[in-house]
Amino acid sequence: MERIMIVMGTRPEAIKLCPLVLELKRRKKQEILVCSTGQHRSMLDGVLRAFGVKPDFDLDVMRTGQTLSSVTARILKGLDEILAAERPDLVIVQGDTTTAFAGALAAFQRRIPIAHVEAGLRTYHIDSPYPEEFHRQVIGLIAKWHFAPTEMAKENLLREGKKKKSVFVTGNTVVDALRFTLGNDFHRPSWNIPTDYRLVLFTAHRRESMGEQMKGMFSALSRLVNEFPDVIAVCPLHHNPGVRAAAEVIRGQERIRVIEPPDILSFHQLLARTYLVMTDSGGIQEEAVALGIPTIVTRHSTERSEGIKAGVLRLAGCSEEGIFNLGKELLKPHSKEYKKMKTPASVYGSGDASVRIADILERVM
Ligand code: UD1
Ligand code: UDP
Repeated sequence: MERIMIVMGTRPEAIKLCPLVLELKRRKKQEILVCSTGQHRSMLDGVLRAFGVKPDFDLDVMRTGQTLSSVTARILKGLDEILAAERPDLVIVQGDTTTAFAGALAAFQRRIPIAHVEAGLRTYHIDSPYPEEFHRQVIGLIAKWHFAPTEMAKENLLREGKKKKSVFVTGNTVVDALRFTLGNDFHRPSWNIPTDYRLVLFTAHRRESMGEQMKGMFSALSRLVNEFPDVIAVCPLHHNPGVRAAAEVIRGQERIRVIEPPDILSFHQLLARTYLVMTDSGGIQEEAVALGIPTIVTRHSTERSEGIKAGVLRLAGCSEEGIFNLGKELLKPHSKEYKKMKTPASVYGSGDASVRIADILERVM
């Protein structure tokens, strides 16, 4: 039986790869090995628990204050030893994190074929997002199979010269994850948010925004909450210390709840009842599009332009003023702009991406 090793290390990779792990294991056509790099710890472990996935290997690389190079080096060393011992026939990586980059590189250096899930996302600005744009382009160079979530992602790959036969449009597995979390009768936290308040969900964590720029994003939120007395904001704080430092500007403010990141089940419940999202997250952009929740993207550019075209996402840039002004426009009573955005779109698929990927792997391996 052929062996597939699936490598993951951060919260979003686990959210987007667990549905595929479950689908491949259910079929029992290949032997499935899961390797966690542990690039994240608590934020990753919660997702694995929610999906009931137990890694076969754990490199446990996370250190406080880790640098990009130190994480890359620890993953390469640890994974190389595992690949040498296990000799899988295929390594699967997802997205654009250090785990995905180092996972693909380790496989490439052992001459093991690579399949890339969520392939072909591009801004073509090497610094935005940093370092993710570099990671995904490099993975694209060495992957044998590219699972593009959308036609647009496929077009990017073909334009770069990838062979037509190596690129498949599958949808994004994040929609599979949403089906899992919202479709099951899990315990739903009440969140204690009175129903006559509008909920704004705010997250920020991009490396290129850390520092003054991120403080400005939090300040924009704070001004919006002051402006609209019927708004309550919830800010799940990413564990990156840089995010925690920036969030000091909103500490103690009435109607802004700063909370630890809820696990994926609770987070999706919260998202589903949100009035307006403000985020720089990739995964949350896709989820908001699938659910039709108007979203302000607090970035200069996005690789999720399908969501912009669908009308659910609006790009605000990173300045406090730009974010505040767009927020004000969308939160004002009876905003026509807001109304136009509130339409779910299936541009990221309908929740069967894992099934499609598993079908393709059965055919090509
Ligand atoms: C990483 C990814 C980014 C992805 C994000 C998802 C890279 C280069 N970036 O960024 O693409 O959007 O994950 O969240 O791979 N920490 C904890 N506990 C955790 C997780 C993180 O304490 O469970 C803290 C640690 O201090 C760690 C820091 O957060 O050093 C940053 O984590 P890191 O994985 O380096 O980068 P992210 O900013 O999370
Ligand atoms: N998420 C979560 N709890 C939170 C914030 C986000 O479970 O407090 C989930 C969210 O639903 C999405 C994913 O984490 O699926 C996005 O991860 P993140 O924003 O960390 O990374 P990105 O998608 O930007 O790479």
